[in-house]
Amino acid sequence: MNNKNNSILNTYIFTIFFFGLSLASYLIYRFNNISILGAVLFGILIFLADNFSVPLPKTGFVSVNFGISLAALIIFGPATAIIVTLISSISIRDILKKEPYYKHIFNCGQYLISISISSWIFEILFDRNASNAFIAKNIGIIFMAALVFFILNTFLTASVISLSKKIKIINVWIFNFAWLLPFHIFLVVMSVAISFLYNLYGPFTLMLTMMPLIIAQYTYMLRTNERKALLNSIMHIVKIVEAKDIYTAGHSVRVAEYSEKIARKVRLNEYDIEMLKNLANLHDIGKIQVDLSVLNKTDILTSEDWNEIKKHPIVGYEIVKEITFLKDNANAVLYHHEREDGLGYPFGIDGKQIPYYAKIISIADSYDAMTTDRPYRKALTPAEALLEIKKNKGRQFDSSLCDKMIEVLNEENQIQL
Ligand SMILES: [Fe+2]
Repeated sequence: MNNKNNSILNTYIFTIFFFGLSLASYLIYRFNNISILGAVLFGILIFLADNFSVPLPKTGFVSVNFGISLAALIIFGPATAIIVTLISSISIRDILKKEPYYKHIFNCGQYLISISISSWIFEILFDRNASNAFIAKNIGIIFMAALVFFILNTFLTASVISLSKKIKIINVWIFNFAWLLPFHIFLVVMSVAISFLYNLYGPFTLMLTMMPLIIAQYTYMLRTNERKALLNSIMHIVKIVEAKDIYTAGHSVRVAEYSEKIARKVRLNEYDIEMLKNLANLHDIGKIQVDLSVLNKTDILTSEDWNEIKKHPIVGYEIVKEITFLKDNANAVLYHHEREDGLGYPFGIDGKQIPYYAKIISIADSYDAMTTDRPYRKALTPAEALLEIKKNKGRQFDSSLCDKMIEVLNEENQIQL
């Protein structure tokens, strides 16, 4: 990251922090009704919940702490809810992991802004004098305040990721946060139940009402860990496959990186980019069944050798279609050696029939293959490989994707031909 970008990011982080702190202080002063019991009880709950939260796909964490903050807001009002939320921003995990200080500062600031604005709106509209606090109008206000919190919290977090990683904010939001909306709706329902029972029967009901929240969080954690473990195992298999072929170490990872760069040029969203990267990492996994002597042969390949090599997209497809979250796009592996002019393998289909992901992987794969040594030839220079890509535009590769790859390479290597 360059210095200019760094200083913009730092200014933004400190602005969020000081704005959050000022807003929270003002509201605590204005409403001045802190419940010590509420702050202690809900503070302990939110502290535990936040320190057992679940990593998100790109960065950040999901936890039930919002449900606890909202319950504190309904029962005790803004001042207690703000104190409870402040406690949630102290993450022991981040401190133990020695996360940089600006992460704590930003987190603290964005949580304080989100809870302050949502609880201010809530307190103005919520009818605490109604004979039953849980009348339809009040329930509607709870949902509205929750929505304000969700929007502020997720967009503020997405904004800092967008600034630091230079990814469009809407893409960050869709990939990291949009899928959390149903979970947040569930948290609102739970917080209504928590506050209703608390008001009726007192603090001991927290033991009962917190159980579903803890189970929900645990389920999310299992789901996330399962997917992470599966991807780790897959990457181990990729390394084993690459170890068979002495010339292709690191090839799959580089193909995934080039595929991502092309995907960003064509503005795929973060979900699709992640999917494409996984597929690109696995594009040659079918080589696990290709005869070792053929893979490492230094002589000219015979037609039998070619027949052996040509089966790897089919074998790879059979493997990838068994992976739940990749099966719908597994044909990207099956067709990654097909060509626009129909002269590719294994089926010789033409450009109109080749899936988009397969076209992207094909260009990335070919460029990396050309720029690394192979048993039968030396590596081309980046400039020579770029020329080859240009020559094969519309013949081997999709024309518009070819232009995007040329843009990527021009930016990366400053190659101008
Ligand atoms: Fe391949």
